This record gives sequence, C-alpha cells and structure tokens, in this order.
Amino acid sequence: MDSFEWNKIFGGVLAGLVALLGVSIASDMMFARELPEKPGYIVAGVEEAPAEASAVEAEKPAAFFLASAEVSKGEAVFKKCAACHNAAPGGANGTGPNLHGIIGGPIAAKAGFSYSDALKGKSGERWDFDHMWNWLKSPKAYAPGNKMSFAGIAKPEDRAAVIAWLNTQSNSPLPLPAAPAEEAAPEENAVATAETETAQQVAETDPAA
Ligand code: HEC
Repeated sequence: MDSFEWNKIFGGVLAGLVALLGVSIASDMMFARELPEKPGYIVAGVEEAPAEASAVEAEKPAAFFLASAEVSKGEAVFKKCAACHNAAPGGANGTGPNLHGIIGGPIAAKAGFSYSDALKGKSGERWDFDHMWNWLKSPKAYAPGNKMSFAGIAKPEDRAAVIAWLNTQSNSPLPLPAAPAEEAAPEENAVATAETETAQQVAETDPAA
C-alpha cells in the first residue's frame, strides 16, 4: 500500500469523526438534555431524602452522644484505660498520667508526668468535651506522635460514656452539653421548598421566561 492510499484511509476516518461530532452537536442543540428525576450520583452538600441523612450517624456531634451518655457504662469502658491510668483523687501516675479532674482541666499538666512533645504542644488548651472527644476517637489523629499506645474508642456511645464517667471523677464536674436540636434539617428543607415554589411562580408569571 503506498502512502497515497494511506492518506485516503486516514482522510476517510477523519471525515467520519468530524461528521459524528457534527451530528452530536446538532442533536444537542435540537433536544434539550433532560436531567433524570433522581440523580444517579450524590452531589456533596445537596440535600436528598432524609433517609440518607441518617446514614451518616457517626458524624453526629459529640454533644448528641454526651447528652444521653451512660455514666455507669463509662465506668466499664474505663477498664480499657485502667492498665495505664487511674482517676482517683491524688492517684499516682502510671504508664499514663492520673486522670482525676481531667475533664475541663489543662492538657498535659499533671505534675510529675513526662508528656510527649506532641501532647505538650497542646498544653495551652483544656480538656473540654470536644478536645476529649477527638482525643479518644483517635489519639493519633488528635496529637500525631503522642505516646499513648491506644487506638481510640470507635463506638461513639462508648466514647461518650467514658467521658461522662471521667467527668464525675472530679471535684468540679462540668455540666454535660444539651442534645443539639434535631429539627434543624427539616426546617431547612421547608425553606428550600418554599424558595423553589417562589422561583417557580416567578418563572410562570414572568413573560420573559
Ligand atoms: C497503653 C497505655 C494507655 C492506655 C490503654 C490509655 N492511655 Fe491515656 N495516656 C497514656 C499515655 C502514655 C499518655 C501520655 C501521652 C503523651 O504524653 O503523649 C496518656 C494520656 C492521656 C490523656 C491526657 C492526660 C493529660 O494530662 O493531658 C488522657 C485524657 C487519656 N490518656 C485518657 C485515656 C483514656 C480515657 C483511656 C481509655 C479509653 C486511655 N487514656 C487509655 C497511656 C494510655
């Protein structure tokens, strides 16, 4: 086959592609693309059915679980910690520091305990509920390089329970946070629906639309 014949073949293929492109553009112009009623993919930030919202249970804030935390269960969960910690008033430091009065107390401040630089780096802060929540969820993520050999408490109910129990091991326990309002999401939906309706009315009455 000489190069002239190859040119003809390439030319033919090219012409075919151009024609295909033309048809596709023309059909796009003729038929407005209709969006499917239910999107085949979920766009982050776009509210869908409330049933799907409950699938992100683990993402609920600390306050949600703390508000219904069981102190007695927390004492049982603390058995996981007891190899390294005690929470008795004036109790000795072990592998980990004594934890009496730790909720609300300053971070990395127990006398006589040699903290890692990672935890000392947080020492301007206090162990409020949110800090303790994130620490016990994943010590590694909260303070990378810390020396507490503990993976964290995966179940949010257990995490909340041990925090609530630790809070009782104190001369001045903090008030547990109230449950955050659950109705917030449906209200937002109602507003969104109202806005959509208004937009539709405007579209219907606007002659330009
Ligand atoms: C294997 C031992 C070990 C276990 C188990 C353990 N910890 Fe610790 N914990 C440590 C060590 C060591 C530190 C100091 C970390 C550092 O300095 O980086 C620490 C630090 C802490 C601190 C910071 C104290 C302060 O003075 O700022 C808290 C709070 C804490 N642990 C809570 C817990 C709880 C609650 C559990 C159980 C759910 C637990 N730990 C399980 C060893 C342990």
